[in-house]
Amino acid sequence: AQLHDLAVRAGLKYFGTALREGAINSDSQYAAILGDNREFGQLVPENGQKWESTQRTRGQFTFTQGDITTNTARQNGQGVRCHTLTWHSQLPSWVRDGSWTKATLTEVMETHINNVMGHYIGQCYAWDVVNEAINDDGNWRDSVFLSTFGTEYIPLSFQLAKAADPNTKLYYNDYNLEYNGAKTDRAVELVQLVKAAGAPIDGVGFQGHLIVGSTPGRSNLATTLRRFTALGVEVAYTELDIRHSSLPASASAQVTQGNDFANVVGSCLDVTGCVGVTVWSFTDKYSWIPETFDGQGDALIYDANFNKKAAWTSISSVL
Ligand code: XIL
Repeated sequence: AQLHDLAVRAGLKYFGTALREGAINSDSQYAAILGDNREFGQLVPENGQKWESTQRTRGQFTFTQGDITTNTARQNGQGVRCHTLTWHSQLPSWVRDGSWTKATLTEVMETHINNVMGHYIGQCYAWDVVNEAINDDGNWRDSVFLSTFGTEYIPLSFQLAKAADPNTKLYYNDYNLEYNGAKTDRAVELVQLVKAAGAPIDGVGFQGHLIVGSTPGRSNLATTLRRFTALGVEVAYTELDIRHSSLPASASAQVTQGNDFANVVGSCLDVTGCVGVTVWSFTDKYSWIPETFDGQGDALIYDANFNKKAAWTSISSVL
């Protein structure tokens, strides 16, 4: 059986994948696997809905890249996670380097959120409203948003998102929350801070950009997820990949990778309120890892020739 079907039978809402906009029209093998709704029940645009893709120039909205994912999902009967609104990265320089007051930046955020969420209204199971607001050491991440507002920009983003689309789930999304350290503590505080401000938050996304051999075990991962579900929000793994820190990967490293994937997926099964798992692309042919982490890679569940890896088999066995 295939991963989304197995995931649903095991009690999750979906097993999904990121869609790489540049590959879908040029690579028919890629398109065929990605479009199989029993393998992937949900898609997320890898880049197409980000600020630099949707409003690179002030006041000019472009949805061609983002629409690739929603159109593909519609054709194939798949759901969509939407990604992302308030983020320091892939943010056009007119926003990043602008000199703003709270009032003028609020207006910019409101216009952006209204237009982008408005365009996709009714199509997104969830939106990553705020992405990566915390440093690995647990401090608030520096950005034009933090320097203009302090942490107020976080509840503000959720409030604006709720007004733009009242029927989608509103998520905070970040990486390295899986290790349950200072960054995780701060993310717990973030959820509390949003709620204390009277703003809505429905979920926390664990990106899950992990490393073979350094991935926490299943019960530790589940304990960490429960810190958030205890606050009344759902959780999900939103960008899962588990990279080899050196290549080529040995046969034993590939087995370890499979166990690590099974632990992550298994932890979601163990936690009431963990709704699903999304891999950050599915084939080693198209992955941000080697582009970003020099010398690392092979982080996904199909190899670069679209063969299922040990990781695929481990996930299917745990589901
Ligand atoms: C990455 C994409 O995969 C790359 O193609 C792009 O060049 C940079 O962004 N956290 C996120 C994702 O929330 O949006 C990032 O995606 C990976 C890290």
